[in-house]
Amino acid sequence: MAASIALPPSTKLHQNHFHHSSFRGSPLPPSAFPCSSIKQKQHGSKTYLTKISAKFELKPPPYPLDALEPHMSRSTLEYHWGKHHRAYVDNLNRQIEGTELEELSLEDIITKTYKKGNILQQFNNAAQIWNHDFLWESMKPGGGGKPTGELLELIERDFGSFEKFLEEFKSAAATQFGSGWAWLAYKDNTVDHPRPSEKDKKLVILKSPNAVNPLVWDYAPLLTIDVWEHAYYLDFQNRRPDYISTFVSNLISWEAADLRLQKAKAEAAERVKEKEKKKEKKKNEGSDEEVYVDNSSSESDSDSD
Ligand SMILES: [Fe+2]
Repeated sequence: MAASIALPPSTKLHQNHFHHSSFRGSPLPPSAFPCSSIKQKQHGSKTYLTKISAKFELKPPPYPLDALEPHMSRSTLEYHWGKHHRAYVDNLNRQIEGTELEELSLEDIITKTYKKGNILQQFNNAAQIWNHDFLWESMKPGGGGKPTGELLELIERDFGSFEKFLEEFKSAAATQFGSGWAWLAYKDNTVDHPRPSEKDKKLVILKSPNAVNPLVWDYAPLLTIDVWEHAYYLDFQNRRPDYISTFVSNLISWEAADLRLQKAKAEAAERVKEKEKKKEKKKNEGSDEEVYVDNSSSESDSDSD
C-alpha cells in the first residue's frame, strides 16, 4: 500500500521570503522552488513531513539556464545558481534556525548582522543570497546596449558620458581584489544626513569584497556584476576582463536597472515625506508646550491682594 503523506498541524511552513518591506531593488518573482530541506519520517503506514527548517528558498533566475548562451553558458548557471547559490540558502537556513533572525526579512538580517563591518557569521550567506537574486535579474537574454531616458541622463550627468561610466564600471569590477562585486547604485542619504541636499542624490559606482553589498551603506543598488571566480571560470577561466566586457556588452538588463531607479527614487521621496512629517509633529508638540500657561504666579499675586 502506498504511504500517505500528512502534515502534522504543528508544522509551520514559513513563506516569508522576499516579502520586502525595505527592499530597494526591483521586485522579485514569487518563489517557485520548493525548499529542499523538508524531511520525511515514516510512522507505520504514514509518512510525515516532520521538519521544515527552511525560511528562505532558492529562487530561480527569471529565464531558462541556457538563455544567456553563448555569453554565459548553461554549465556556469548550473553551478553558479544550482550549487553556489543553493549552498548560501541552505547554510543560512541552518544558521538562523531557532534564533531571533528567523523572523526577519533577508534585508533586515543583512543590515543587522553587518554591524558596521564587524560581520556576524550569518551575514555572508544572507548577503550572498540577496546578491545572487539581484544578479540574475541584472541580466537578460539579448542584454547590453545602452539605457534610455532618465537613467541615461543621470549616468551622463554623474559620470560625464555613458562611455566614461562603462570605463569606470569595468575598472571597478576588474580591480576588486579577490572575490567580490561591482555595483551601480543610487545614493540617497536623506535619512541620517544632517543637511540633505540634491547633491546627495546621485549615481555611484562601488566595489565590495566577498558578500558585502550597498544595502549596508544605505544605498540603493541598480546593477551588479559578480566577480567571484565561480561566476566566470567555466567560460573564461582566469580572464576576468573578458567576462566583464561580455557581461557589459551582452548581458546587462538596463530595464531592470531603470525599474530599480524608479523604485529607489520613490522610496527616497517617501523618506523625505516621513522626515518632514516627524519634524512637523515635533514642532506641533513644541508649540503645544508654549501654549500652556502656568497661572500659579498670577494666582499667588491675586492671593496677595
Ligand atoms: Fe556568485
